[in-house]
Amino acid sequence: MSLDILINLIYIVSAILFIYGLKMLSSPATARRGNFISAIGMFLAVVTTLINKEVVDFQWIVLGFVIGAVIGAFAARLIAMTQMPEMVALFNGFGGIASLLVGWGVYHSGPSVDSLTITTIFLSILIGGVTFSGSLIAFAKLSEIIGGKPTLFPGQKVFNVLILIAIIAAGVLFIISPVSSYDILIAIIVLSLILGVLAVIPIGGADMPVVISLLNSYSGLAACAAGFVIQNNILIVSGALVGASGIILTKIMCKAMNRSLSNVLFSGFGATTTGKGGKQEGEVKPIVAEDAYYILEAASSVAFVPGYGLAVAQAQHVVRELGDLLEANGAEVYYAIHPVAGRMPGHMNVLLAEANVPYDKLYEMDDINPIMNTVDVAVVIGANDVVNPAARHDEESPIFGMPIINVDYAKTVFVLKRSMAAGFAGIGNELFFAPNTRMLFGDAKASISAVVAEFKES
Ligand code: TAP
Repeated sequence: MSLDILINLIYIVSAILFIYGLKMLSSPATARRGNFISAIGMFLAVVTTLINKEVVDFQWIVLGFVIGAVIGAFAARLIAMTQMPEMVALFNGFGGIASLLVGWGVYHSGPSVDSLTITTIFLSILIGGVTFSGSLIAFAKLSEIIGGKPTLFPGQKVFNVLILIAIIAAGVLFIISPVSSYDILIAIIVLSLILGVLAVIPIGGADMPVVISLLNSYSGLAACAAGFVIQNNILIVSGALVGASGIILTKIMCKAMNRSLSNVLFSGFGATTTGKGGKQEGEVKPIVAEDAYYILEAASSVAFVPGYGLAVAQAQHVVRELGDLLEANGAEVYYAIHPVAGRMPGHMNVLLAEANVPYDKLYEMDDINPIMNTVDVAVVIGANDVVNPAARHDEESPIFGMPIINVDYAKTVFVLKRSMAAGFAGIGNELFFAPNTRMLFGDAKASISAVVAEFKES
């Protein structure tokens, strides 16, 4: 067997591992294994490429592997789960700059490049540059290095379109006459970096997970283009997989928020807090932990509905403890997960998995809603928008049409939050005024701990 065939066979094995790993990521039960399998695929692909292209000697590969593994292991230990979106933003940025550098490097290595290669060089530099600077802005917004509010200025959209036109014009000139166009190439790099910044600054910090997922898709496309530049099959395949999965995730998030991608990208959502949350009438009925305990103690079914406040309070472990106590008391316990609860995809799944909540107790929105009217107590833990009934009926509400978890259909609803403040969408919530709702004010972890203490004392 020739070396070429062997290399391509290893690439096919890598591609199968990527696809299989991606498939396993779709369930919390198999996600860790999926991640590991994909990592093995990437390891095979990188080592094979380095050896095949004689980029570096074997000992350097081993050294790189050890250093990379140590940095990766430390980063994974040090980064808190809530910082995961910003870490992914940085990863995307690195992917983008790598593609940009590959394109730039290949241009330098030989001016006699054909027009297909020169087009892919242009694309890997353009998409890589936009991804790099856009991801750095997303990272800075999420880690609060810069403000999370959308930055809007008059004529912004027109200005962005002009930059885009300038890039396309420069791209055409570059492709027509690549050999004499080094200055144009530098202009394309600078303009694409500017475009990345301009594309992300008008987007609010809380919309960043959607943007990061989109940038993830871009980093895949940039890698795919870089794969064409250096004619590396596995880079083309892995780039295409990242590009496709990123755009699918982006679409899922937009759908779960009932917003179009263009609304996320261009509306400046979060610049002002407007809109209604349905009828804010009726009486707010606060309770204390002791009252909550008596009601829960008598309940035969309880659904926990976590939201962003669960992550802020880091209440997942006490929630699990309360769940166990309720089960020991004979109640059926459900953990109901809304697809965009929290601030990143799978946010609630990850937190509950950290507290070892069994996967079979997690109920997706479409599974819990049909049985919500049989639930004795729905315990809303730091969730707000994802349980706001206005989404069902108030056409003027900014979240109208967003599917919600119908906690208001349960016999009794406890809402655990610190105040009457709004959530991400910046709107009030009529649920807090409903006749069957009781507000348990305070930090979610403190409130649940107090209920747990009541259970233990009884
Ligand atoms: P939110 O609507 O943002 O509400 C969170 C609530 O948690 C707040 O009202 C806050 O009220 C409460 N809270 C904060 N800290 C707390 C603490 N320590 N203890 C108790 N409560 C606390 O959250 P949600 O219901 O999860 O909805 C998610 C929102 O984010 C949706 O609008 C969604 O569209 C958006 N979004 C999600 C994603 C993804 S991928 N998940 C991406 C982009 C946008 P108090 O201040 O009164 O305590």
